[in-house]
Amino acid sequence: MPPYEPILLKNMLQPGYTGSLADYERTGGYQALRKTLGKIAPADVTAMVVKSGLRGRGGAGFPTGIKWGFLPKDYQGPRYLCCNADESEPGTFKDRQLIERDPHQVIEGILLACYAIGAETAYIYIRGEFALGAAILERALAEARAAGYVGRNILGAGVTIDIWVHRGAGAYICGEETALLESLEGKRGLPRVKPPFPATHGLYGKPTVVNNVETLANLPHIVNRGAEWFASIGSPPKSTGTRIFCVSGHVRRPGNYEVPMGITFRELIFEHAGGMRSDKALKAFIPGGASAPFLTPEHLDVKMDFESVAQAGSMLGSGGVTVMEEGTSMVWAALRLMEFFYHESCGKCTPCREGSSWLVQTMRRILAKRGRREDLETLTDLCQNIAGRTVCAFGDAEVAPILSTLKYWRHEYEELIREAESLGLAGIPELVMPAAARHEPHKFEV
Ligand SMILES: Cc1cc2nc3c(=O)[nH]c(=O)nc-3n(C[C@H](O)[C@H](O)[C@H](O)COP(=O)(O)O)c2cc1C
Repeated sequence: MPPYEPILLKNMLQPGYTGSLADYERTGGYQALRKTLGKIAPADVTAMVVKSGLRGRGGAGFPTGIKWGFLPKDYQGPRYLCCNADESEPGTFKDRQLIERDPHQVIEGILLACYAIGAETAYIYIRGEFALGAAILERALAEARAAGYVGRNILGAGVTIDIWVHRGAGAYICGEETALLESLEGKRGLPRVKPPFPATHGLYGKPTVVNNVETLANLPHIVNRGAEWFASIGSPPKSTGTRIFCVSGHVRRPGNYEVPMGITFRELIFEHAGGMRSDKALKAFIPGGASAPFLTPEHLDVKMDFESVAQAGSMLGSGGVTVMEEGTSMVWAALRLMEFFYHESCGKCTPCREGSSWLVQTMRRILAKRGRREDLETLTDLCQNIAGRTVCAFGDAEVAPILSTLKYWRHEYEELIREAESLGLAGIPELVMPAAARHEPHKFEV
């Protein structure tokens, strides 16, 4: 395994590092802010981030500096930065670690982004379940305020930036940037129709940037070590820097691993995460959170960069890599994800609201060995009528597990349907889903 230097997780890997202001400053914390405020023009900070090639770590992978550049230059009123700490994608748990273990790294990133875009107010939108993370952030913000890093006239440079922590109530949709803005405004978290985009009409209708926690945490390092340094890491020119991949599932050492983009899934899973937990072979993996289509052992040598994973028919998404061993029922796995999406559909768009219910019912029927041959066409048809027909990307996300398992493991669906036919149960409605099907996956092994 090559000796990769972690960037974002480096501090917290030091024994005894607590994430306090004193610890952070000892490792060079807030030097990037000192170097920047009043010394580098905001537009030059944006140019540096463009040059670094940094792309969003929240899911869509949009180039960060370019996004900042969409804010109107001559707008006189307030503008906002929102740090997206909702981290609601199943299989993703990196932002939580960044917040809980090194909160000042995130705060310094927020300050640099605010300075670059001219925002005097930033909100950290954190999911309600992250009670510990919210408390840690509040404490860190109090320390930063007392030290003159946050508030009025920061470091005597005449710059004002305040940062507030806002707790969400734990809805997946509130990670979607416009639903997040609605929720922050005190309304129900429903996505907005785009355009207009947040860059011009964001929080309270003002120019706004929404960036993910990990995206922002990279900024102090880019300022300290330079855009060229960052751009040389990973898989340049389009996938630069490191990423924190959250490995879960049937591996020996699940956890967060920060690696340069462009290593292979094989290296991540078999070297960093210790390989499979038992002698069963790898059967499937999700490469980038629940919204990313499943991949197969044939994709283990795909490079973990934006382009290569897209070419393989999936996406790096939020960086959540979930590994499944031989014996896992892929119909069961797809249903579990679908049940999550069904539960979390916000209900705004008819195809998603109604379609997710039909998808779950059909999938449950197939798994309960009551499916019909036509059900597979119904599933495909439903998915095709959801994807691309909703206000936000939730619709595309929820069909990914079903379409990709139908593509690679269709025979498992067919086998269940054949059994239903041989039992004479095909198409017979099922009133109650057996609890085992929901909670005991081993009973549904193939
Ligand atoms: C349904 C849905 C859920 C999302 N959840 C999150 C989330 O929890 N955290 C996040 O950073 N981005 C999430 N996103 C992506 C955001 O909309 C947005 O693209 C991102 O916060 C932008 O930050 P970035 O450019 O730094 O990646 C979600 C998107 C969708 C469609």
